[in-house]
Amino acid sequence: MAVIPEIRLSDGVKAMPAVGMGTADVPFAPASTKPAILHAMELGYRHFDTASLYETEQILGEAIIEALSIGLIASRSELFITTKLWCDQAHPNLVVPALRESLRNLQLDYIDLYLIHMPLSSTPGTRRLLINRDDALPLDIKSVWKAMEDCQKLGLTNLIGVSNFSPHMIDKLLVTAEVSPSVNQVEMHPAWQQVKLREYCKEKGIHVTAYSPLGGYNGPLFKNQLMESEVLNGIAKARGKTFAQMGARTRCQLGCEELQQREVKRESSNF
Ligand SMILES: NC(=O)c1ccc[n+]([C@@H]2O[C@H](COP(=O)([O-])OP(=O)(O)OC[C@H]3O[C@@H](n4cnc5c(N)ncnc54)[C@H](OP(=O)(O)O)[C@@H]3O)[C@@H](O)[C@H]2O)c1
Repeated sequence: MAVIPEIRLSDGVKAMPAVGMGTADVPFAPASTKPAILHAMELGYRHFDTASLYETEQILGEAIIEALSIGLIASRSELFITTKLWCDQAHPNLVVPALRESLRNLQLDYIDLYLIHMPLSSTPGTRRLLINRDDALPLDIKSVWKAMEDCQKLGLTNLIGVSNFSPHMIDKLLVTAEVSPSVNQVEMHPAWQQVKLREYCKEKGIHVTAYSPLGGYNGPLFKNQLMESEVLNGIAKARGKTFAQMGARTRCQLGCEELQQREVKRESSNF
């Protein structure tokens, strides 16, 4: 079974495995999701990322119950579970109910990390990926973050954080925050390394997690040009690795300091 390095987040009760499995797909929640989660657990994955938007909270919850019953894991505490608040519930009075709904879907008492999915709000009840212009609303970050802090105080989540946030939005949040975000989850891969954002987050003690480390969804709607890159495929071939192994190993992967340092050494000696 693979040994995955762990990251101790600033205020975390337990460490976060540096590599996690995402459960988003297009279209959402195909039948292969549950077997894929169970297979990932067999391989050693303990960190799973879902969101109310992805419609995979319930599937992940069922997979956890099955994993416990067949002995793939001994207890829920071995897992690091992240879920996210979608824009239609990014209103101060809807945040705690949204997390309670996610916990019901997951059949869990608590999650490890709760993220604001986007720095945007939308009309309540409009939970869809592509938000209509008429439904898009500015995010009241101060009061929504306060409600995120309430989720933590209530013990519904160990940690709170953000996703797709710029330094500007984090600065706005920090003006009144009692608790700083533990994580900012953003798109990050060899073609979009988020250098400035990572510098900013490092200064603020916020861990940067990469999503779409292979360049994102590779389907008919969104063409993945990263995986077709001759340069990147050439590097992978020269190193005897698949593109996916290389994408997961580059500095983009979850921004883990330890991995980054090892890569810097490797890059200077091999690349
Ligand atoms: N916070 C956010 O806003 C946000 C946004 C997007 C994603 N995420 C999270 O990040 C996770 C991963 O992101 P992602 O699925 O967009 O991108 P990704 O991990 O970069 O994967 C992109 C595509 O790579 C292909 N792929 C995966 N493993 C491969 C392998 N071993 N060999 C060859 N191709 C492989 C798949 O293509 P095929 O479909 O053709 O198999 C997949 O659709 C999501 O599941 C979600 O949890 C978060």
